[in-house]
Amino acid sequence: MQMSDPQICHVDLGERSYDIIIGEGLLSRLGELIAPLMRGQRVAVVTDETVHGLYGAALAKSLSDYETHMIVRPAGESQKSMEGLESVLDSLFRAGFDRSDMILAFGGGVIGDLAGFAASIYKRGCPFIQIPTTLLAQVDSSVGGKTAINNAFGKNLVGSFYQPRMVIADTDVLSTLPLRQIKAGYAEIVKYGLLGDRAFFDLLDAGLGARVLDLDRAALREAVARSCETKARIVAADEREAGQRALLNLGHSFAHAFELEAGYDGDLLHGEAVSAGMEMAFEFSSARGICDEADTELVKAHLEKLGMPRAAHMAQYLKDTDRLMSHFLQDKKNEAGALTLILARAIGQAFVQKDVDPATLRNFLTEMKNRHV
Ligand code: NAD
Ligand code: GLY
Repeated sequence: MQMSDPQICHVDLGERSYDIIIGEGLLSRLGELIAPLMRGQRVAVVTDETVHGLYGAALAKSLSDYETHMIVRPAGESQKSMEGLESVLDSLFRAGFDRSDMILAFGGGVIGDLAGFAASIYKRGCPFIQIPTTLLAQVDSSVGGKTAINNAFGKNLVGSFYQPRMVIADTDVLSTLPLRQIKAGYAEIVKYGLLGDRAFFDLLDAGLGARVLDLDRAALREAVARSCETKARIVAADEREAGQRALLNLGHSFAHAFELEAGYDGDLLHGEAVSAGMEMAFEFSSARGICDEADTELVKAHLEKLGMPRAAHMAQYLKDTDRLMSHFLQDKKNEAGALTLILARAIGQAFVQKDVDPATLRNFLTEMKNRHV
């Protein structure tokens, strides 16, 4: 099949700048794509069993010019743990890796976060490349350098800002992803429209979104590239989240509270929680008179039309308002005990609202509970 040239999106971070390469058929070109970044001949590939089963052979063929060391972990969020991290580090030590070698994170956001964090601390930092294989990882987690594992106190609480040397997003690998995972990734795509790009939201709503969920190749490439461009621009302006990077968390405070209620065992995917969380952020903005009701209705209609998770689907997680409030009060974005939320003035106009009155949020959550439970 005829392949068009990949699209390249640049993340401009001075000496830590890198390219995101987006296109079809890139898995078979990995060896050639990473060659300019290689100092030695050895690569360690961190992946999970599912991705390894599907694409391990293709990857090995593509990397045949290198001495490749595979580190294959079970799939799932539980790998983002001290045990998962230690196991990856031990494998690197056993194989005698040094800082002239390259680590490849080959998988979804779990593998990207785990391998990225391991790379950031292995011998005080070893270069790594992201090869994201889920839609969520291609449009969000592989870009921007946030790496982390979870612990008993919560999600992503132990981690680092550590940029990859390159991101290679082969949209063809998305063909094996279950629709549920595609929808979870799509939530993060809509997010870019809702937070700052009304024209992109309109495109998605006019049919691009439906084509993404149908895995149309041109639509996937367009949506992944546009999402990465937005994320690259925001990260370049605010790498460490001192300001506008927080906008990328639109809907995430609600999402994290639902995820904590659900536990991290697969009942509720991050992107599913984000989809409903964005609806709630718009509802909350409208309830406070910040956002035109018509925009909130448009957001809801778009999510409904594409069969995306909605606030109504979160009924079981809305039951205990006190516990939900305690989750909100633990959010990393809060400062000096005051609540911070990402709200919206309109579609495409999100902003950071500090000092949200907890009583107002509590009333809103109670209203949502009365409406949906
Ligand atoms: P994941 O990595 O668990 O992948 C989801 C499932 O899909 C897994 O079972 C995996 O084995 C499977 N899979 C991966 N690629 C596949 C393919 N091509 N075909 C078939 N199956 C495939 O989940 P995810 O949604 O990619 O990532 C979620 C994680 O990302 C969370 O831990 C979240 O905290 C993190 N995250 C990080 C950032 C960041 O900026 N670092 C941003 C968003 C999310
Ligand atoms: N996913 C949020 C961020 O990268 O900042």
